Amino acid sequence: MDSKALSITLSSGELPLADRVVLQRCVSYFRNVHSTAALEAAGHKVVNSFACAWVCGNKLFGSLELVKHQIPTPRTTLAMAEDSALRSMEQMGYPMVVKPVVGSWGRLSALIRDSDAARAVIEDREQMFPLYQIYYMQEFVKRPPRDIRSFVIGDRTIAAIYRYSGGSEWRTNTARGGKAEACVITPELDELSVKAANAVGGEFVGVDLMEGEDGLLVHEVNNTTEFKNTVPATGVDIPGMVIDYLISIHKR
Ligand SMILES: Nc1ncnc2c1ncn2[C@@H]1O[C@H](COP(=O)(O)OP(=O)(O)O)[C@@H](O)[C@H]1O
Ligand SMILES: [Mg+2]
Repeated sequence: MDSKALSITLSSGELPLADRVVLQRCVSYFRNVHSTAALEAAGHKVVNSFACAWVCGNKLFGSLELVKHQIPTPRTTLAMAEDSALRSMEQMGYPMVVKPVVGSWGRLSALIRDSDAARAVIEDREQMFPLYQIYYMQEFVKRPPRDIRSFVIGDRTIAAIYRYSGGSEWRTNTARGGKAEACVITPELDELSVKAANAVGGEFVGVDLMEGEDGLLVHEVNNTTEFKNTVPATGVDIPGMVIDYLISIHKR
């Protein structure tokens, strides 16, 4: 059902759906985490869990789990004020990337090539909602003009695509015109993807990886992964496999 049509009264015994397996598909971060929390507290099994949604919904929390689990990930720095952010950017060197901790489809992620651009982006962010003043800064990974999105269900990598950025766009998100092409699931890709999924407690996730100079790097795990471009590119029936997984956990 559409999360916008959902209302949940926070008292026991009043929930219409208790004990169901719920597949959370809401792409709105706020509606996703809040409805997952309420549904889970009411006794439903939600895929993915609130713990997973909380971690994946915030790039800093996600990166912390990747680092904790020793999963190769781009070098990332956190700062929480204008001066310290600018200082960190200068130290990291250019080009570098600054991203909002909450956000998707590449929105508001900026590739910064010099101090002037850094100052301009920070000055803008200082006028925004306080969440945008949590500066999440990352080395710009020297990679081909593509990244990899792999799909993990349970303990298996079931599909993967390359996402090629189009024209002058540096971000490869398909929501920004990135083109999907099937990617072979190598043992390295499978192992890293499953490790990353486990690190965030994900049962059905999309793992974003880049081909760095020294091998694959995981830059984020998505708890509500879209797959409309992946199914035609790979021929893998992702929705069917998810349903089979949900049925299998429901029977347990
Ligand atoms: N550190 C980086 N170096 C190079 N490219 C990056 C880097 N981080 C992100 N990108 C590009 O930007 C896209 C969006 O970044 P990502 O962290 O996945 O955020 P979103 O949640 O918006 O998808 C990635 O798919 C990749 O193409
Ligand atoms: Mg991404």
